[in-house]
Amino acid sequence: MTTIKIVEKNNPIDIASQESSQLKLLAKSHNLEIMEQIIFKDKMFIVYPADTENLFEFFYIISGSIQSEILRTTLCQGDSFHFNALVEVTHFKALSDTRILYVINDSIFHLLSDEIKTLYEMMNSIEKKDAYTKKHCQRVQQYAYKIAVELKLDNETIESIQFAALFHDLGKIKIPDDILNKPEALSEKEYAIIKEHPKYSRDIITKLYFRDIEKIVLQHHERIDGSGYPNQLIGDDICIEAAIIAVADSYDAITSDRPYRSGLSKEIAVSELIKFKGTHYRNDVVDAFLNILLS
Ligand SMILES: [Fe+2]
Ligand SMILES: [Fe+2]
Repeated sequence: MTTIKIVEKNNPIDIASQESSQLKLLAKSHNLEIMEQIIFKDKMFIVYPADTENLFEFFYIISGSIQSEILRTTLCQGDSFHFNALVEVTHFKALSDTRILYVINDSIFHLLSDEIKTLYEMMNSIEKKDAYTKKHCQRVQQYAYKIAVELKLDNETIESIQFAALFHDLGKIKIPDDILNKPEALSEKEYAIIKEHPKYSRDIITKLYFRDIEKIVLQHHERIDGSGYPNQLIGDDICIEAAIIAVADSYDAITSDRPYRSGLSKEIAVSELIKFKGTHYRNDVVDAFLNILLS
């Protein structure tokens, strides 16, 4: 079934605001982003060199005009320009508020997105509440990325995994500090409160334009034998992205210092993953991670 996705003028998928410009994400697909960029009058518009060989960027001036002193040219409404792996920084100055249609065969919007900036700010505030979670999420992101690459997943899936891994425990911001940092074993009631955090993480990132991120964070404590939470999903009902984060997450939780115990060794963590391979964790994900850890 084909679904037409309409993006209304005043309601883009996401916005990135900067002092000199505003960028609106209009569409995103595999390795393709289409944006509208507004460069404010008298501000510089800078196109930076590509860091990948096959990068292609296209700019079409919808209204307004921009001038390049180096190129000795002024570009107006209807003009366009494009770069294939640009090698030098190119500056333009907006002679009036200028609207540009910007198309790129890469994923760059998340680097600028207002929504994602807000999530990073939340990550910083979570660090004050619970010193462990931010660094834990960063490590889980690194492990999950390596597993995804080892499993040869496509770039879009790898990108989703990286964001989901980084924000998977953001929902802990809603868990009371005394439960999060409790040095003794948690009561059943307290553990039930902790178990709510995947839903809170999902609720926080629910507006993000990255497909499937919500599902991934919601499922990161599910286990393939149905013993996980919050929905006791079984087997392939758990998405591969969440199954990867589950392994990375467990490994990091075992090897890190926690309020109730010191971090355990890499060997113990590996033996735990092997012990629960095929019951808690997917075989292929554990095997991929063991390849990385033991290489
Ligand atoms: Fe978690
Ligand atoms: Fe976690």
